[in-house]
Amino acid sequence: MQFLSDYRNDFEAYLNEQIQLQEPEGLYAPIKYIMNLGGKRMRPVAALLAAEICGGTRQEAMAAALAVEVFHNFSLVHDDIMDDAPLRRGQETVHEKWDINTGILSGDAMLIRAYTLVECYPAEKFKDLVSLFSTTAMEVCEGQQYDVDFEERDDVTVAEYLHMIRCKTAVLLAGSLKMGAITAGASQKQQNLLYDFGVQVGMAFQLQDDYLDVYGNPETFGKQPGGDIIENKKTYLYLKCLEQLPQNQAWELAQLYTLKPKDPAPKIETVTQWMSQSGAAEATKAEMQAYTEKAFALLDELDGETEKIGLLRQMAEGLLVREF
Ligand code: IPE
Ligand code: IPE
Ligand code: MG
Ligand code: MG
Ligand code: MG
Repeated sequence: MQFLSDYRNDFEAYLNEQIQLQEPEGLYAPIKYIMNLGGKRMRPVAALLAAEICGGTRQEAMAAALAVEVFHNFSLVHDDIMDDAPLRRGQETVHEKWDINTGILSGDAMLIRAYTLVECYPAEKFKDLVSLFSTTAMEVCEGQQYDVDFEERDDVTVAEYLHMIRCKTAVLLAGSLKMGAITAGASQKQQNLLYDFGVQVGMAFQLQDDYLDVYGNPETFGKQPGGDIIENKKTYLYLKCLEQLPQNQAWELAQLYTLKPKDPAPKIETVTQWMSQSGAAEATKAEMQAYTEKAFALLDELDGETEKIGLLRQMAEGLLVREF
């Protein structure tokens, strides 16, 4: 019997071998720090599983899996600068522990490292991998820009929000699965099914991330509680709350989301209360559920060992009841 933890352990052994401290330390120490802070490792595990489902080997998919995890961690280092976030995985963010310039340059080096990791594949696979990786990375940048633009806007729609999270989050999980499939030489049909599954799970995952940002247990979530409220992020929770509150409260909420008070605690408390009372929290859970069901329907069309497809399903289920 195979467990998800086996994939994670194998991946981490490879990561420890590959990510070593080098000179200059100012560049590489933050990389080692963030890569060793843990995290769920869901993208690399997804890549390894996808490869095996498509008849390939875990070993062959390992470099691609590390590439997506390095890219993901790079995006977190820069995201934490952009979101002014003090905490990541329960520890200081890179720009807090060092400084912003360190976060920028170590982040840049991680993006480059992610590309060099893919260089080990034979020409045909390399071409497909790099092309998918670049498209995905550009979409993540687009999503991040929308996310930041929305902080200043008061007319963001649910459709715009959904497009934004598709870009900033969902395509990277989708791309990880498809990269795993490419390393295994999978058919287009299998590649696309895995990609589409990843998009649906990724959407549910980001809705859950937004939910946990407000309602997560601060002990386990590992990020600053209420960080999205502090930063006036136009999340699904916020947009639904705005839609479902009585008009005068909705107006007050919109007002609160133009401010960044020095002491954010009263704002967080009020907004959290309204998100619960208005039914926005429930609506977010329901939307997550809808994406999850669409994802699982796609798994039924996938070819491959039932046990491995079951693990992918288990991984997706785990993400949606997670506490961190
Ligand atoms: C955090 O991703 C960024 C989002 C897309 C919400 P994860 O929640 O996968 O982060 P780690 O790697 O497990 O810490
Ligand atoms: C992160 O979105 C997406 C990327 C890093 C590309 P968030 O800003 O919501 O992620 P967290 O909450 O900081 O992990
Ligand atoms: Mg953030
Ligand atoms: Mg962000
Ligand atoms: Mg978040």
